Amino acid sequence: CGIVGVLGLGPVQNLIVEALKRLEYRGYDSAGIACLENGKLSRRRASGKLRNLEERLAKEPLAGSTGIGHTRWATHGKATENNAHPHATDKIAVVHNGIIENFRELREELRAKGRHFASQTDSEVIAHLVTQSLDEGLSPIEAVAASLPRLKGAFAFAMIFAGEDNLLIGASQGAPLAVGFGEDDRAGEMFLGSDALALAPFTQQVAYLEDGDMVVLTHDSASFRDASGLPVERRRIRTQASAFLIDKGNHRHFMAKEIHEQPEVVGRTLGHYLDMSSGHVALPFELPVDPATLSRLTICGCGTAYFSALMAKYWFERFARLPVDVEIASEFRYRDPPLDPSGLTIVVSQSGETADTLAALRCAKGKGQKILAIVNVASSTMSREADVVAPTLAGPEIGVASTKAFTCQLAVFAALALAFGRARGVLGAKEEARLIGELMAVPGLMAQALKCESAIEGLAREIGKVRDVLYLGRGAAYPLALEGALKLKEISYIHAEGYAAGELKHGPIALIDGDMPVIVIAPKDAVLEKTISNMQEVAARGGRLILIGDENLARDFAGEAEASIIMPEFPADFAGMVYAIPIQLIAYHTAVVMGKDADQPRNLAKSVTVE
Ligand code: G6P
Repeated sequence: CGIVGVLGLGPVQNLIVEALKRLEYRGYDSAGIACLENGKLSRRRASGKLRNLEERLAKEPLAGSTGIGHTRWATHGKATENNAHPHATDKIAVVHNGIIENFRELREELRAKGRHFASQTDSEVIAHLVTQSLDEGLSPIEAVAASLPRLKGAFAFAMIFAGEDNLLIGASQGAPLAVGFGEDDRAGEMFLGSDALALAPFTQQVAYLEDGDMVVLTHDSASFRDASGLPVERRRIRTQASAFLIDKGNHRHFMAKEIHEQPEVVGRTLGHYLDMSSGHVALPFELPVDPATLSRLTICGCGTAYFSALMAKYWFERFARLPVDVEIASEFRYRDPPLDPSGLTIVVSQSGETADTLAALRCAKGKGQKILAIVNVASSTMSREADVVAPTLAGPEIGVASTKAFTCQLAVFAALALAFGRARGVLGAKEEARLIGELMAVPGLMAQALKCESAIEGLAREIGKVRDVLYLGRGAAYPLALEGALKLKEISYIHAEGYAAGELKHGPIALIDGDMPVIVIAPKDAVLEKTISNMQEVAARGGRLILIGDENLARDFAGEAEASIIMPEFPADFAGMVYAIPIQLIAYHTAVVMGKDADQPRNLAKSVTVE
């Protein structure tokens, strides 16, 4: 979910909406705003996308200069207007992100004291808990301070108080919250936001709350208290988040724009890690462990980031002869895995905020592992908690389905695998230079791969009619089969599965019929001959074979394949990055043909800050 709070010098409604637009990627099943008008709290909320709230505000504007706003991704309670934030009593209004684990107990306790709850959310207990303390005679600051220790879970919130025009209080426990300090023509204004991106149009000067912090804002002060209630200073920093225009360029959707940006951003990311002129990897940081002495590597992530890690495993094993465990973060964190205290864990995440991945980071750290975080959001919690940050330079990714962040993650992994290979004496300088030459060719090959778009538009019209799709890949193309199926599911809602091509005969072959497309990802790599056998198995059973491969392969299968998406021919060591393009385009165009919202698929959120 996204949180924003503004202590303004004039009406703040439009500022809040502007910030919420930048946060909409975090959740968009309902939204709301509360402002103080002549000391009284007024709220406007709407279920569905932010534009529903905007329409509401156009008819019934809010004039106050102190306000909070929220975009929600439902965890407790349906996405109705009643469950939308802000939640309020007659004395306070609050917007909240995360989960209050003990809300049922607290709700019972507060009901027993005669409090009436209007929603099914966990968030509403914060409003009542604080109001209860106010009714018992505490000041707003004391009331929040008294309530915080009673709340269990990972959360952040922002709160305003009836009759208190010059007060905005925030608290953060395991979920991010930043204070923004108005400067220049905004001097005297103060902001709260769940990330720096939301605050970027107003200020670049921010201070992050640390775990357990509370902050009290007035027009001319920000006072922080730590978890034990003692006053603390939190450093002001200048954020990297730019006030870039959220703009789709010439594209219909952010997802399309982001797919097309890949040659540029993957090139930029590779440039950050490779010394192109000398043909060596040049990591822009010191590794926290010596790869030469590592006995194994653990990599954790969720969703698309997890699939990038699965592909990386092939590279680390091959180029660095390093055993790799790739872990789904939500499994890893609860398994109590044995980890060598002098080892290395890599966490990989676009947002750097995904709750399960963050918990995996903390779990590994707790066991003495050094942490390298591959993240796209430089100001994220994972960046701050890792020993070393390896940034993906994809730029802000707005489409919920990850595309450019994925290929940039692969770019970072590829560079790391080569660096480890050199350090472990597996790769000689010549071999390293050859592989770097291949990597440097990737952005250009991606640009060529984008030329298959019109062929894919035609194919998408066929895929849009089916109920199920099977993706097959072998070797490093296997994780891409998983990613292809995930992308299609996410945005077109067509059921899809990714399978290791060699596993076809152990089950999914029973599904093959004249309806279900079987998309085979077949770059010209060392296992292509084996993949070809699997393609023949599909064709022999009358399956609908769709091939992604080079021209030679397409020619060989001209009779059997229903469609072929032609990729350029190139050495296949890093083919995954290039073959990701048709995979993403298939999902995107299928969603578009079906009339689905590719940028904001139902039920999903860009940044999942709950377990
Ligand atoms: C959500 C998104 C996925 C993403 C996953 C991990 O589920 O819908 O597209 O892959 O989170 O996100 P992260 O920010 O950690 O990469």
